[in-house]
Amino acid sequence: MDGRDLVRSVKAVGSVGGAQGLRTVRAAWRRRRADARALPTRGPERARTPGVVRDAAPGPGGGTVRFSRSELRIVVAVNGAVFWGWDGADPEPSYALAGRCPEPDPRAVLEPDKEGGWRVVAERVTVAVSRQGAIEVRTPGGVPLRRDLPPRWWEPVGGGPARWLQRSEVAADARFFGLGGRASGPRLRDGTYRLWNTDPGHSFEPGDDPLYITMPVQWVVADAGTHLAFHDNTWDGTVVLREGEEGAGSGHDRAGVSELRMDGGPLRCWVIVGTPARVVHAWASLTGAAALPPAWALGHHHARWGFGTEEEVRRIVSGYHEHGLPLDAVHLDIDHYDAHQVFTVDQDRFPKLPVLAEELRRDGIRLVSIVDPGVRATPGNAVYDAGTAEDAFVRDASGEVVRGVVWPGETVFPDFTHARVRRWWGRLYEERLGEGFSGFWHDMNEPTSFAAFGETTLPRSARHALEGRGGDHREAHNVYGLCMARAGYEGLRELVPGERPFVFSRSGWAGLQRYGGTWSGDVATSWPGLKASLSLVLGLGLCGVPYSGPDVGGFDGSPSPELYLRWFQLGACLPLFRTHASLRAGRREPWEFGPEVLEHARVALVERRRLLPYFVTLAHLARRTGAPYVRPVWWGAPEDRALRDCEDAFLLGDSLLVAPVLRPGTERRAVRLPPGRWYDTATGRAYEGPGQVLVDAPLERIPVLARAGSVIPVRGEHGGLELEVWAPAPGRTGGGLVVPDAGDGWDEPEIERYVVRRHGRRVVVEREREEGMSAPSHPLRVRGLDEP
Ligand code: GLC
Repeated sequence: MDGRDLVRSVKAVGSVGGAQGLRTVRAAWRRRRADARALPTRGPERARTPGVVRDAAPGPGGGTVRFSRSELRIVVAVNGAVFWGWDGADPEPSYALAGRCPEPDPRAVLEPDKEGGWRVVAERVTVAVSRQGAIEVRTPGGVPLRRDLPPRWWEPVGGGPARWLQRSEVAADARFFGLGGRASGPRLRDGTYRLWNTDPGHSFEPGDDPLYITMPVQWVVADAGTHLAFHDNTWDGTVVLREGEEGAGSGHDRAGVSELRMDGGPLRCWVIVGTPARVVHAWASLTGAAALPPAWALGHHHARWGFGTEEEVRRIVSGYHEHGLPLDAVHLDIDHYDAHQVFTVDQDRFPKLPVLAEELRRDGIRLVSIVDPGVRATPGNAVYDAGTAEDAFVRDASGEVVRGVVWPGETVFPDFTHARVRRWWGRLYEERLGEGFSGFWHDMNEPTSFAAFGETTLPRSARHALEGRGGDHREAHNVYGLCMARAGYEGLRELVPGERPFVFSRSGWAGLQRYGGTWSGDVATSWPGLKASLSLVLGLGLCGVPYSGPDVGGFDGSPSPELYLRWFQLGACLPLFRTHASLRAGRREPWEFGPEVLEHARVALVERRRLLPYFVTLAHLARRTGAPYVRPVWWGAPEDRALRDCEDAFLLGDSLLVAPVLRPGTERRAVRLPPGRWYDTATGRAYEGPGQVLVDAPLERIPVLARAGSVIPVRGEHGGLELEVWAPAPGRTGGGLVVPDAGDGWDEPEIERYVVRRHGRRVVVEREREEGMSAPSHPLRVRGLDEP
């Protein structure tokens, strides 16, 4: 035993207390022993690079370039995305792809390039391969966007997976975004970002890395263009980023650099080039359309770890009613389970859940249940017994079922990388439906297993089915949450075929959106925590997961009334709007922070409800186009450098720009505007972008600006759909899309397209139909006409 481990073990027993402390020590040792037995230590390694080009053979959508020590396959797909794989790596199998790999684009051709290299020329991109295996991605005009140097592998002499390194260079002015949910973004500055889904074990702030959802999905935004690079590899890795620098005067530019190191797995990459809207569209066509949340899930959710009893749930709900505050969902955490065991109910404290659920439903409020993957390893526990009979649980290399420690104590973990196990798990949601739950909140699915020291997850040597291919936790870890989401989603589709499932998951990977959304995990109750929570939503949206939001108020401790309110106001503008907190934290109900906060929180809640049709529209558009609800302000103008560096505001769809208050004591704040006219929605005052303006941000609201010419569907006073139209600037036109809610089933509503024109002091709105223009289908409210 190493001395530090001994100290940590003693501490763990002391801090967690008796039995659980000892369990975490035992679990940590078991994990270490299993890995030591089953994973050979890395002996001597041989380094390899591709060598020199030999020849090339055309193939569908591109072809194969052969080098003396490797080969490179390049395929341009019909959606414009470019795939390349070294050493024979194919696009499939892949956990990220929604289905089969898209068809190759027959127009993309492989041809000789200068200096003995080769290139594939496609409609939107040219990929040039040098004699040594460097790959350059260029715009059709020939401007380089990314240059990947020849990769380097290290192969264990005694056999086993090769590690590899891919160094890429981008323009000196480029900015990096993405990599999943990162606390220190949205702009990813110089530093090391790990690719290994992790529960940090404490409430996080900027600087904590990695977190629950990591993805090798990188956005690069530069003057010359925007691109996304996705390394389809689920193994543990790191990305080291260094932004470039432009040479002053006669000095040279220093390129931006991204260095990706992976511990194993294929070296294969997808690159998508284009405007941000085109990039996400192609990304969604590869990884799948986002599940559409039911309309109620776009309202306000109230959660808490430790409601403790049905009476307390009723008390909170009546609090919302008494104070005239809209509420759409209540979430029950692990404390409603019998001894924390998933798919059970503590009958003493929650004796009549279905009755409670029915009562709430009559008031338009849904119940959402937490679901953890860890199953209490006690014979007699029905889920454990059934899972054992099903051979559902992850085993180690010696064939023993792996045991970890989570809330219920000693637990075992379903192997969600097995289709049979997913089906078994999916059927267990029947119990939840019987208790009256309408939605599901997947937690602890990195997966987390508490440990006194070392990593808080399963042993790396633990075996997984990996869809029949077989492998170990090194490859399966990052997709564990994704596969659990699939199990839940597919199970619910079978159990309630007429309703769209509502699932959101703490952990996940590329493609999570197919099954649901996520939330930002245990964010620290602090101003930096508030900022970090926005960073996660923006990063995840760019990586294809549009539906997420933070624990409003932060997970731990007690926010000051001001911090709580500012978080509430931000949360009200994010897709998942949920107050939640830890067992040990202070209260989070809006009336617990004094009358002033209550009043302002009510305004935010009422406004969220008014904007519900807009959120419904954004949800539909996210599913159809891949565009996240919450977008960086550079979305429509990525060439604007000041916008690329703006991290404290975001676009909510095409029409709104939200400038949350992220610092205490703010009464006014600077807002960086994209091009065009923007109206402060509170005062109606118009501002002209691009540029920076100062706007009022009093305690009662955060600045929200509307784009001139936009059409925003809102809920009218009597609940019907209305269109709020913001006057185009003189001489300009506008328009927008509206997708009405079609219920919780699978009906496809028709997209309504509107065109807005301004004639002097008059604004004309028309609906564009196949047959021609017609009058709008909903009442109108025109705003912004008072401004010149
Ligand atoms: C984890 C979750 C948190 C939940 C708690 C208890 O910390 O992130 O949301 O309340 O577990 O289930």
